[in-house]
Amino acid sequence: NEIYLNGLGDALPALPTDLTRLEELAGAKLSAQAHGYVAGSAGSEATARANRAAFDRWRIVPRMLRDVADRDLSVEVLGTAMPSPVLLAPVGVQSILHPDGELATARAAAAAGVTQIVSTAASYEIEKVAEAAGDGPRWYQLYWPKDRELAASFLARAKAAGYSALVVTLDTFTLAWRPRDLDQAYLPFLRGIGVANYYTDPVFQRAVGGPVTEENRDAALLHWVANFGNPSLTWDDLAWLRERWDGPIALKGIQHPDDARKAVDAGMDGVIVSNHGGRQVDGAIASLDALPAVADAVKGRAAVLFDSGIRTGSDVVKALALGADAVLIGRAYAYGLALGGEAGVRHVLRCLQADLELNMALSGLTRPSEIDLDVLVRDR
Ligand code: FNR
Repeated sequence: NEIYLNGLGDALPALPTDLTRLEELAGAKLSAQAHGYVAGSAGSEATARANRAAFDRWRIVPRMLRDVADRDLSVEVLGTAMPSPVLLAPVGVQSILHPDGELATARAAAAAGVTQIVSTAASYEIEKVAEAAGDGPRWYQLYWPKDRELAASFLARAKAAGYSALVVTLDTFTLAWRPRDLDQAYLPFLRGIGVANYYTDPVFQRAVGGPVTEENRDAALLHWVANFGNPSLTWDDLAWLRERWDGPIALKGIQHPDDARKAVDAGMDGVIVSNHGGRQVDGAIASLDALPAVADAVKGRAAVLFDSGIRTGSDVVKALALGADAVLIGRAYAYGLALGGEAGVRHVLRCLQADLELNMALSGLTRPSEIDLDVLVRDR
């Protein structure tokens, strides 16, 4: 209503309300390298396209005369209260997109009470992001490094900085074949930005012989690359993690129901059905197509979250109908950040939540808990 009414006074929104248009605008604003980093995906980018196309194969069937005057979009996931079933996905090195990076995202998220998942690869230290978030809900996303001591240090720091849940990303123990980054020399580009959580960590510093300065910057970057992920991890390693984190843990990157079951067997509290926005396995199943079987396998025993391709309110409805308890957005807010910093992220959150609420109400739905498979039909 606010946006419609502002239009009466010729006050048009600073950014488009159609979030699918933000990518194009960000492309005009960002450098080719920065735009390639956020918009790019693995290989031919077929998975990224499939992620979006999957939503179009489902259609919402609106129901009428259901008294939708009283609406409440709030949910609770892994012990965190949320105003709507939308979280901010972990997105690394956000200062590539805006100088305030994760700090701007934290302020926008906290103002809306939205949960921000902060990446190990953030460009600001997680302690500083926590400070920017204040009382805002926050989860920590672990890229599980080779060095166990470094992993333990990350977990201890996240706990001390008030991150309430742990997200462990499994699908990115190494960066995939990403032509846009490969063609534009991503690592030299990253050299100028840095990955603060590694560079300031005492365990990391010990390994590179002291604080990271101009002199040992390249050595630090190489050490980061060598330690970033661990391809030898197996399901057995989760016991180590379970012992060291006493809050909820969700595994991100789950696409197969058997992996979801294994997560539950390993004592995990949630799964995030995700293909990293199509950035890892080119030719992989659309994340939305992987969702129903995963939800079937573990619903009721673990929280089921979803990401990869969410851009609109109707996308959220469809993901919830197919079994998600909540969804994460990645690029949608990353483009908002690129275009408008904190205000840009706020804009994206307000638009998506308003779009979701209207879409639900007009479909006869007042609460996320009312959204199930009966809401959808398969498009022919
Ligand atoms: C990501 N993603 C990601 N995931 C993660 O666990 N840790 C990270 O540091 C990052 N970094 C990152 C950077 C950028 C630029 C993008 C676009 C994505 C993946 C992210 O959390 C999420 O899975 C996807 O972004 C979801 O797909 P959409 O919403 O971008 O389509």
